[in-house]
Amino acid sequence: MRMETTLKSVVLLVLTMSCCNSFLLDDEWDHFVYAQQWPQTVCLDNDGQVNQTTKCSILQEVKTWVVHGLWPTRVKTEGPNCCGCNETSSGCHNCTRPFNFTLIQDLEPQLNEFWPNLLTKKHGTPYDFWKHEWEKHGTCGTSLDVINSQHKYFVMGLKLNQKFDILQAFLKHNIKPSLKVQYTYKSVMDALIDTFGHQPLLECYYSHTTNTSNLESIEFCVSKNFDIMTCPSRNNINRLYREETCWTKENITIPPLVYSNPIKVKKDITVKLLEELN
Ligand SMILES: *[C@@H]1O[C@H](CO)[C@@H](O)[C@H](O)[C@H]1NC(C)=O
Ligand SMILES: *[C@@H]1O[C@H](CO)[C@@H](O)[C@H](O)[C@H]1NC(C)=O
Ligand SMILES: *[C@@H]1O[C@H](CO)[C@@H](O)[C@H](O)[C@H]1NC(C)=O
Ligand SMILES: *[C@@H]1O[C@H](CO)[C@@H](O)[C@H](O)[C@H]1NC(C)=O
Ligand SMILES: *[C@@H]1O[C@H](CO)[C@@H](O)[C@H](O)[C@H]1NC(C)=O
Ligand SMILES: *[C@@H]1O[C@H](CO)[C@@H](O)[C@H](O)[C@H]1NC(C)=O
Repeated sequence: MRMETTLKSVVLLVLTMSCCNSFLLDDEWDHFVYAQQWPQTVCLDNDGQVNQTTKCSILQEVKTWVVHGLWPTRVKTEGPNCCGCNETSSGCHNCTRPFNFTLIQDLEPQLNEFWPNLLTKKHGTPYDFWKHEWEKHGTCGTSLDVINSQHKYFVMGLKLNQKFDILQAFLKHNIKPSLKVQYTYKSVMDALIDTFGHQPLLECYYSHTTNTSNLESIEFCVSKNFDIMTCPSRNNINRLYREETCWTKENITIPPLVYSNPIKVKKDITVKLLEELN
């Protein structure tokens, strides 16, 4: 074991000296974080930041938990990110494998249904979310044959969404989207462990308008063979982009989907939710 590690270090050292950093980055990860999200909570979460320039909307074809991303991850860290790209605070630039929508055009109907771009920017494109996921995360997984192209990466993300069907797992345990019924943290987690065999990370968005903790994201650690696994060093994973997580003592709400058109001017989803509560 130790010898193998030493050997690896030597190989890495040699590669560092002889080759390019982007090549090396590819192998600096050991598992995936596979993140799925609940569209309604994504919209609740982003409502506060909506400016006129960004709008969250859920189209009619969206009916289930959807993909956020498949993220090559190194134990104890987030990432690597933006492999073969220049990374700045605004994202990945100058990627050697830049996002190209043409390469995944045939997947568009499935992507719109199971990996939708929920947040639309006034000056953005409908592909911004996919571009972001590919350039930040997909570019780092290309050492693995089954995801060594944009098309394969998105196919895999979609496949895992079918394989790890969260809506079904919840329905089997009588957990349904509702504004009236809430679920204990334990009942939600138990349903997932019972179905998938391992504990995921749960992320919630706490609404100060309705005083509810809304389930937003469910992240499983996934092996390079695409099996769910126990997350290594889960407490060391740094999640800067989440506002709130689920609290074990706080009941969880899974708000029903509210559909809206992305072209319309911003609508206050929180107001809608309150109307429905009454
Ligand atoms: C809101 O819009 C202004 C002006 O367009 C912009 O400067 C600001 O960064 C935006 N805020 C957010 C949170 O997007
Ligand atoms: C990153 O930027 C530097 C200079 O800004 C450039 O030399 C380098 O080739 C870039 N790398 C990639 C992968 O684009
Ligand atoms: C992208 O590449 C161009 C041309 O090489 C360079 O001028 C620019 O600084 C690079 N961008 C980043 C963010 O490194
Ligand atoms: C995107 O991919 C298509 C299909 O392979 C190719 O014809 C096109 O040149 C690519 N576009 C860019 C900007 O690289
Ligand atoms: C949480 O939900 C459970 C069952 O749904 C219920 O018995 C309990 O009273 C709720 N707790 C709070 C604090 O609302
Ligand atoms: C939420 O909680 C705050 C503080 O406890 C309370 O003032 C407010 O009325 C509550 N709102 C709702 C919708 O229950």
